[in-house]
Amino acid sequence: ESGKLWGGRFVGTVDPIMEKFNSSIAYDRHLWEVDVQGSKAYSRGLEKAGLLTKAEMDQILRGLDKVAEEWAQGTFKLNPNDEDIHTANERRLKELIGETAGKLHTGRSRNDQVVTDLRLWMRQNCSKLSALLRELIRTMVDRAEAERDVLFPGYTHLQRAQPIRWSHWILSHAVALTRDSERLLEVQKRVNVLPLGSGAIAGNPLGVDRELLRAELNFGAITLNSMDATSERDFVAEFLFWASLCMTHLSRMAEDLILYGTKEFSFVQLSDAYSTGSSLMPQKKNPDSLELIRSKAGRVFGRCAGLLMTLKGLPSTYNKDLQEDKEAVFEVSDTMSAVLQVATGVISTLQIHRDNMARALSPDMLATDLAYYLVRKGMPFRQAHEASGKAVFMAETKGVALNQLSLKDLQTIRYSPLPSLCCLPGGKPGPLRPPDGPAGPWPTFSSFPQPPVLGRREP
Ligand code: ARG
Repeated sequence: ESGKLWGGRFVGTVDPIMEKFNSSIAYDRHLWEVDVQGSKAYSRGLEKAGLLTKAEMDQILRGLDKVAEEWAQGTFKLNPNDEDIHTANERRLKELIGETAGKLHTGRSRNDQVVTDLRLWMRQNCSKLSALLRELIRTMVDRAEAERDVLFPGYTHLQRAQPIRWSHWILSHAVALTRDSERLLEVQKRVNVLPLGSGAIAGNPLGVDRELLRAELNFGAITLNSMDATSERDFVAEFLFWASLCMTHLSRMAEDLILYGTKEFSFVQLSDAYSTGSSLMPQKKNPDSLELIRSKAGRVFGRCAGLLMTLKGLPSTYNKDLQEDKEAVFEVSDTMSAVLQVATGVISTLQIHRDNMARALSPDMLATDLAYYLVRKGMPFRQAHEASGKAVFMAETKGVALNQLSLKDLQTIRYSPLPSLCCLPGGKPGPLRPPDGPAGPWPTFSSFPQPPVLGRREP
């Protein structure tokens, strides 16, 4: 006897290299608990269908509990013939309870078994990831709330654009993650569908009640087609895409913080708990946590692309190629779990340098507000934009800050078709004076640290 589940029709032995190549136990052992859970439900289904007596079912259930106990206590001994977790558990069950174990697999295939296990595992894991993601979002929202008064430069093209609140920056990332959180709930819905009872391809002819299996395992629904159910991995692809998009968001946030943490920006400082030093340069404190978050994105995308390539062009129903889905799921789950926890730690311990943030608010960043000031006076935006742009150019040419231009300077500004910036405070009405409107406040940084020259109320 070959000791294999499928040994019956074989006379030759498998090449040891092939044995190793074929084996998935090294990673699918993670499924031990859900595999037992699935088998317990299935034995109840068999009993209800009259394929096991009550006594046999009880024997199997007790045996499976013992198998689980061994796994939990780390005493489960794998043997070289255990090609995957399903084989290992059934082999051990037989050792524990004898021939009755051979009835457990009646009408079942590893094809519906493995995908049931994977769905059970992912269901549990998605809930964990969902909780970690929500914790990160909560940390960010708390921080935004506590630091809502802090202003700093907003960047587009990495060029200073407009003054924004630090909390606005935090929340810009938090809302993206909130979409990820919603998206994960959607994925979970499609994970939570029961394939057990599909057999290898053609369904279960022995009258096993799939509704009973569904209820036993607490699935939300039952798969509709046994050929599809044993081979579709849409839920895996969706999960990997969810992770990829979430990592896109996290890597962007990490990149912002890496930049903001450089001496050149000096807006934030990473806590020692999430930094590392250099073996050569004693002064270095490197943002390794953030760099690793950024880089893990690549690994996750790779797994997503890899699975899609595995699926593409497969013929219908189960093919061994599908064994490769699990490493992707496990690796990406572990990565996401670590990344989310580290991100939460980084955000909750990050120090911010309010003064540096405020100092970086250069007066030219109010050029847009200057244009809006004119707009509130009734000037069409295109003209206001041009006038403000000319003021920026004038300041640059004179080598002064925008807010150091005198009223006289401002009044010399020509722009089409209005002859002068006549509607600036103190300006003389020109021939095309725009209609008077409520001027609104002269633009200011509300907590600009230097003498707020630009904020000076004009005569
Ligand atoms: N270890 C296999 C997997 O992970 C289980 C299914 C094997 N089915 C089969 N017909 N060989 O997909």
